[in-house]
Amino acid sequence: MPNPTAYVAALAPYQLADLKLAPGIEPIMLAQNESLRAPSPKVAEAIVSAAACGRLYPDPNCDELDSVLRQAYALPDQDRVLVGAGSMELIGVLIRAYVGPGDEVLTSEFAYGYFSVATAIAGADYVQAVERNYTPDVDALLAKVTAKTKLVIAVNPGNPTGTAIPNSEIRRLRAVLPKDVLLVVDEAYGEFSDAWQEPVFDLVAGGDCVVLRTLSKAYGMAAMRVGWGYFPQAVAENMDKLLNPSRISIISQKAALAAILDQGYMRETVRLTLTIADEFKQAMLGFGLSVAQSHTNFILLKLASSEQAKSLEVALRGQGYLVRPMRGSLSDCLRITIGEQAVMQKLAQLIANFVNHSDQ
Ligand SMILES: Cc1ncc(COP(=O)(O)O)c(C=O)c1O
Repeated sequence: MPNPTAYVAALAPYQLADLKLAPGIEPIMLAQNESLRAPSPKVAEAIVSAAACGRLYPDPNCDELDSVLRQAYALPDQDRVLVGAGSMELIGVLIRAYVGPGDEVLTSEFAYGYFSVATAIAGADYVQAVERNYTPDVDALLAKVTAKTKLVIAVNPGNPTGTAIPNSEIRRLRAVLPKDVLLVVDEAYGEFSDAWQEPVFDLVAGGDCVVLRTLSKAYGMAAMRVGWGYFPQAVAENMDKLLNPSRISIISQKAALAAILDQGYMRETVRLTLTIADEFKQAMLGFGLSVAQSHTNFILLKLASSEQAKSLEVALRGQGYLVRPMRGSLSDCLRITIGEQAVMQKLAQLIANFVNHSDQ
């Protein structure tokens, strides 16, 4: 049997959500933080018309998308927009470009799981700083910086916690970090907190900060695989060396263009999601459960114990509701994506029945 290199053989694959159900049960997907509704109807029209261009290779620079993103997000002129097959691709390539064996990637305790996988792929060490109250702590991050730290990732709002820190804290982090450390601000859920956070895209002008976003969440485009980031020119030039120039299909480019141009639809999705999230949270609090403050399209529900969290996850799976179990010090929690109102009301009832039953 052919063998991979020892380095690849030793890598652990990224663990996606377990979406297996008993035969005949209809899945209700609440485990991967996708949007509760389909993308703007304009996306479907754009995809149909994109087919006519299917003969040609796609624009490697995504120029049309670049210009609508600059407008929609008021991006300054001087730096570069890069589009990836999801922001996951940009995270992986950034880490490979800036970090190697012996170096350290630093992030906070409950950061998004893919960072550790991308760090292992680069052969580097992954370092995590404690969070307080499920929220990243800038001083704890700064205390972990060493001469080996090459890249720091701040996820704001966070996944799997859903909490957010004020962007003034992100600015303080950037100001204190050494200039040769690249700060990556992952704002995959940024559209859900834009209403109360001032943007940090201007930090990119310093040459040592990247801000990442995605169309997978608020725009309802997870299946189209479009993420983007605002990169300093020099960082983007290094990314260009590693990225496949034809990675974003014409279908994804045109779909993303239509989604970004329909800001009203996206904002409506955000409003709807946050309203349902609040109703669901109030229901959970009413059952005596605790929920971390969320600025995203999911909530982190804390149960009495890891065992209770595990049994609830299994009970919900039996009814087709797929929510995300957590590991380590969050194993007493479940991460639940906010779905449609009727789905969340039914889910709240199932959780109430479970909690009442397990109290007896
Ligand atoms: C914090 C965070 N960053 C990045 C991603 C990657 O998203 P995508 O690759 O779909 O753009 C996710 C997806 O769940 C996420 O939660």
